[in-house]
Amino acid sequence: MFPDDLRIWLNHFEYHAQHPRRIPEGLSDRLTAQERRLIAPSLATFQLGEQSEGATLLRAASRFAKRHDLAALVAIITLFIREEQRHAALLGTFMQDHQMPLKHGDWTDQVFRRLRRAAGLELYLHVLIGAELIGNVYYRALEAATGCQRLKVLCRTLVADELAHIGFESHVLLALRARHPAALRSLTRFAHRSFFVSTAAIVWLTHHAVLRQAGYRVGSFLRACAAQYDFYLEPAGRPLVPA
Ligand SMILES: [Fe+2]
Ligand SMILES: [Fe+2]
Repeated sequence: MFPDDLRIWLNHFEYHAQHPRRIPEGLSDRLTAQERRLIAPSLATFQLGEQSEGATLLRAASRFAKRHDLAALVAIITLFIREEQRHAALLGTFMQDHQMPLKHGDWTDQVFRRLRRAAGLELYLHVLIGAELIGNVYYRALEAATGCQRLKVLCRTLVADELAHIGFESHVLLALRARHPAALRSLTRFAHRSFFVSTAAIVWLTHHAVLRQAGYRVGSFLRACAAQYDFYLEPAGRPLVPA
């Protein structure tokens, strides 16, 4: 995979750094009091999650890039972090415009941050991609749950960026997995899938009000998350064990 594929991803992130997706002016921005009550605490947690602690990821990526002579990786991760910070800013501005309090701490966010801090690049990406896959299901649900045009377009904008993030992260993870011996690869897949399903269950427990409003029930939400996971990390017909 590496150097050529990374160049393609670097082109993608450079292009979007120069041409960030914008929320058009003049969209209807009306949120009912009931909607506001429903989404405010949940949105605050996701806004907090978007504020990635770039230094940890950048450190892990720099170590990895140095070991494998992949300078492009550091440039990609730098632009990726900026894009996530932009998501946090877009959500933060929307919340402030609607008098929704921002969160400065949340136990689920703390758990993710601690895990990522303890990790090398591969484990970091395993944790990160789980959050991004579930985040995408959540943002699509939020878009369905609200009548506010600005929030709908904001959710669509985030999903468009996140799809590329997930594409990049899964690309790197599948390449890294393929380098491991078969036994370690099976163990990693099992451990990661179990961790992912547990995370999705916690997201259901803590955000079910918004998810229910979008028509999800616990089973359909977990199935939607698992389908995303399988699409990106267990691609059909693409053996993880190269011949
Ligand atoms: Fe994001
Ligand atoms: Fe992302």
